[in-house]
Amino acid sequence: MLEELLAARLDRGAPETLAHQLYGAIRAGILDASLRPGQRLPSSRQLALEVGLGRNTVIEAYARLTDEGYLVSRVGAGSFVAATLPEQLLQAAPAPRARRRSASPGLSRRAQAILDEVAIEEGGAFAPCVPDVTAFPFALWQRLIARAWRQLRAGDLRYAGPGGLPKLRAAIAAHVQLARQVRCTPEQVVIVNGAQHGLDLCARLLADGGERVWMEDPGYPGVRRVFYASELQVQPIRLDSEGMAPRAADWETPPRLIYITPSHQFPTGVVMSLRRRRALLEAAARHDCWIIEDDYDGEFRFSGRPLASLQGIDAGQRVIYVGTFSKSLFPGLRLAYLVLPEPVAERFARAAAQLGFEGRQVTQHALADFISEGHFAAHIRRMRLVYQQRRDLLQQVWEKELGTLAPLSGGDTGMHLIAALPAGLDEQVAVRARAAGLVAQPLASLYLGRARQGGIVLGYGAVHENDIARHARALARIVKAVLKSG
Ligand SMILES: Cc1ncc(COP(=O)(O)O)c(C=O)c1O
Repeated sequence: MLEELLAARLDRGAPETLAHQLYGAIRAGILDASLRPGQRLPSSRQLALEVGLGRNTVIEAYARLTDEGYLVSRVGAGSFVAATLPEQLLQAAPAPRARRRSASPGLSRRAQAILDEVAIEEGGAFAPCVPDVTAFPFALWQRLIARAWRQLRAGDLRYAGPGGLPKLRAAIAAHVQLARQVRCTPEQVVIVNGAQHGLDLCARLLADGGERVWMEDPGYPGVRRVFYASELQVQPIRLDSEGMAPRAADWETPPRLIYITPSHQFPTGVVMSLRRRRALLEAAARHDCWIIEDDYDGEFRFSGRPLASLQGIDAGQRVIYVGTFSKSLFPGLRLAYLVLPEPVAERFARAAAQLGFEGRQVTQHALADFISEGHFAAHIRRMRLVYQQRRDLLQQVWEKELGTLAPLSGGDTGMHLIAALPAGLDEQVAVRARAAGLVAQPLASLYLGRARQGGIVLGYGAVHENDIARHARALARIVKAVLKSG
């Protein structure tokens, strides 16, 4: 069991020495309590044999863990996990005297990184990622909430069990199988408080601090915050017309996690090709990494059938599918779900529940009924037409005003488009747009790496049909003026 856990974490192609990797793997096992205080570790000879390492490698790793206080060694008896870990000792130690007196000890470096990350702009026409909440069936929802309260018993007011309400997990499993070809049982579904919370759980429960995570570049800044909070090393990976395109050299230091938005890449709108999906799954299996598939708006595909999920073609149990009701219903609902591979689902749900107890059973009851009585599918069908009409209107006005000057792309799915601009001009457009009460999120602001394409993100989800032409014309004129002066 221990031997398997350790063997799975060793990568003979990685730049770190095997002794260092073994040290890290045992330390992580101690910190996540897979190895319990007082537990006896195999002898260096036995572990070396089991994991296929040189004995000196194991001795070196054990010696470092002993020096750092994770292990204690008893002559003649072997090595044991220490009863008090160095992390606990550090916490108990008196705080070092502050160098400068300040009003308060301040936030952590992680918090600063979270605050420093670029924000998706809000508060104006064309703000990205904003659905139209005015079309939500309020009266129907009120009825379902009232019915849920009537049906609840005192016991339902306690914490909910790990994973969320069974009835909602079942309704979601049925929905994603049908709508997104996700293959799962209800037990693989874990209800979370928004995709952001689900991504945070993935970062914390599937990776350890310092491990590498890949994401598309440009990419979603919200998930970068989550990765910074877990002290993961975020590595931007370039995109091409088929989606995330890691180079062979990138695979020389494989990541622990890969975060992708394959149905509608955020923000470019690129749909990952089947060829690239297969290659990524195959490489992830070979290098033993997790893939997080964030399907934030894949339900709104305007041409052809919605694309099947990556999870649905994964035979290797690598993919965690993330779905949210923020775009399909309303963001304030704060309900989303993860679909985990079967081997880890139960332990993941338990660990998640230990980190933040589950509750909100009334809302979960109402949502389960909303889905299983067909209202959810009907709402999506209705909203798909609404968004398609808005996208078409925006495209018509834009092309009429600008011809081929700022070509649009990425609009087959979701609720935003990209208008391409020469590099360096998007910030100017954004500033002028803001002054006119509009939003034009610069594409360059969403990159981590240096290679940046110019463009702006145009979110049309919440711009009403009656207003879209007027706002599109105003923004197109700003773009024309900037292009002329640039
Ligand atoms: C790509 C992407 N993923 C995740 C989210 C977060 O969704 P939630 O509101 O469920 O946290 C968003 C929100 O805009 C998004 O654009």
